[in-house]
Amino acid sequence: MKKINVGTLISGGGTNLQAIIDAAQSNRISADIVFTGSDNPGVKGLERAQHAGIDTFVVDYSKIIKSCKNGIKEDDLPTDFNFEEIKAKQKLFKAGTPSGQVAFFLKTRAIAEKKLLGHILEYDMDLLVLAGFMRVLTPYFIDRINTLSGRHRIMNIHPALLPSFPGTDGYGDTFRYGCKIGGCTVHYIDYGEDTGPIIGQKAFEIEDKDTLEDVKRKGLAKEWELYPQCIQKFADSF
Ligand code: GRF
Repeated sequence: MKKINVGTLISGGGTNLQAIIDAAQSNRISADIVFTGSDNPGVKGLERAQHAGIDTFVVDYSKIIKSCKNGIKEDDLPTDFNFEEIKAKQKLFKAGTPSGQVAFFLKTRAIAEKKLLGHILEYDMDLLVLAGFMRVLTPYFIDRINTLSGRHRIMNIHPALLPSFPGTDGYGDTFRYGCKIGGCTVHYIDYGEDTGPIIGQKAFEIEDKDTLEDVKRKGLAKEWELYPQCIQKFADSF
């Protein structure tokens, strides 16, 4: 069977990346990992990729955003960036959010995304997998990856059973709510935050004695099973 080429983006420890590397290396999934990019320099996930012989790169989002605090240089924006179009497409901000805040967010992210695309488009890639990538992607970036209409090509893993508990702390929010079932979700990325079509989910039981650490441990173990399965599902339909 034809293997798909998978690009990966991470922000941290990369245990999901490791699960995907292991699944690819042992041919449990029909996929080759062609690169690992990170928004954070020096993270363990980059080491994991390098250890597996995978190309790596870093786009330092924090540095880019900090450098824009005293004003955004229009020259740093992608030449094909149309602010009004991206603002109209995005579903990240509630109506009434101060326009300066929306503009700063979309423009700084587009500057970073231009750099991401500079690396990514060097590769022949079928699927982009966000494996603990903690940055929101804007429609500017998404449209340049999803170039075939109607075909999603960016997958994300979320640490909760969507549509419950979107946002950055899925396990924490699940635990603090007092849920007795937790879980994880793999979904495609769309123009909102954690709103795209669901590809797969796994659940686990939360016992009364469980701590937040227990919930995270159980959840991650499910993530490591779920992500390779969802990548294989994509490969099967390719
Ligand atoms: C995972 O819990 C994932 O769901 C969330 O960030 C965490 C990443 O963990 N988005 P790791 O870097 O794969 O170990």
